[in-house]
Amino acid sequence: MDVFVNAAVSADGKLSSRRREQIAISGEADFARVDRLRAEADAVMVGVGTVLADDPSLVRYDESHRRDVRGADSDPPVCVVADSRCRTAADAAVLDGDRETYVLTSEAAPTDRRDCLEAAGATLVVAGTERVDLPRAFDALEAEGIERLMVEGGGELIFSLFEAGLVDECSVYVGNLVIGGREAPTLADGEGFVDDFPELELEEVERVDDGVVLHWTVP
Ligand SMILES: NC(=O)c1ccc[n+]([C@@H]2O[C@H](COP(=O)([O-])OP(=O)(O)OC[C@H]3O[C@@H](n4cnc5c(N)ncnc54)[C@H](OP(=O)(O)O)[C@@H]3O)[C@@H](O)[C@H]2O)c1
Repeated sequence: MDVFVNAAVSADGKLSSRRREQIAISGEADFARVDRLRAEADAVMVGVGTVLADDPSLVRYDESHRRDVRGADSDPPVCVVADSRCRTAADAAVLDGDRETYVLTSEAAPTDRRDCLEAAGATLVVAGTERVDLPRAFDALEAEGIERLMVEGGGELIFSLFEAGLVDECSVYVGNLVIGGREAPTLADGEGFVDDFPELELEEVERVDDGVVLHWTVP
């Protein structure tokens, strides 16, 4: 499975402010680029931190681009949430609509929360004891036919993906805002690396609006 990270950061590398509210870091041209990327993916993923902070629906994508790249009868991309304890609310926007939503969870998720999300239409994938075991969960997604997974954040999930060596490509829109704040989420949070830092290969730089998109691959 190809795993592709896409996110927008401020000029100082923040995904959001210390209040963890959604911030429009990029503009219309970048939103259109993201809609095209979603159209190329089988699934779009976020961590439960993003679900709780932003309640994203992740449904928007460029339909005509999808028809071009995937054919006229392709289904919309499905949705994936990493949520070890099933904290996603039953009325979360990721569970709206007809498309399938996978909640990757762990054995630590309380039974009543699992039942609640299944009743709300989620398909649960249990992998890991305390936290989602991402390599195992991704194997299960691959077995469901997901070949290209787009990950939109946040920083905790993105760090874990780099730590597990699961990222193949990464594109980052760097916008012209300065957000600041030591508690504000960045592109990769988690524990952080102290050595063996993953290195990326710069493939492309593109000016979009008042920022740039950096496209990296992971050798
Ligand atoms: N600018 C952008 O492009 C962008 C995009 C997305 C989000 N954001 C911002 O990012 C912030 C949210 O980011 P975040 O870092 O707090 O949350 P996140 O990365 O979306 O979610 C992190 C949570 O996912 C769960 N998780 C399950 N298994 C995991 C694993 N193996 N590794 C890591 N996490 C795992 C953990 O909670 P459990 O252990 O309870 O499961 C963890 O706390 C918000 O402020 C949002 O607005 C910005």
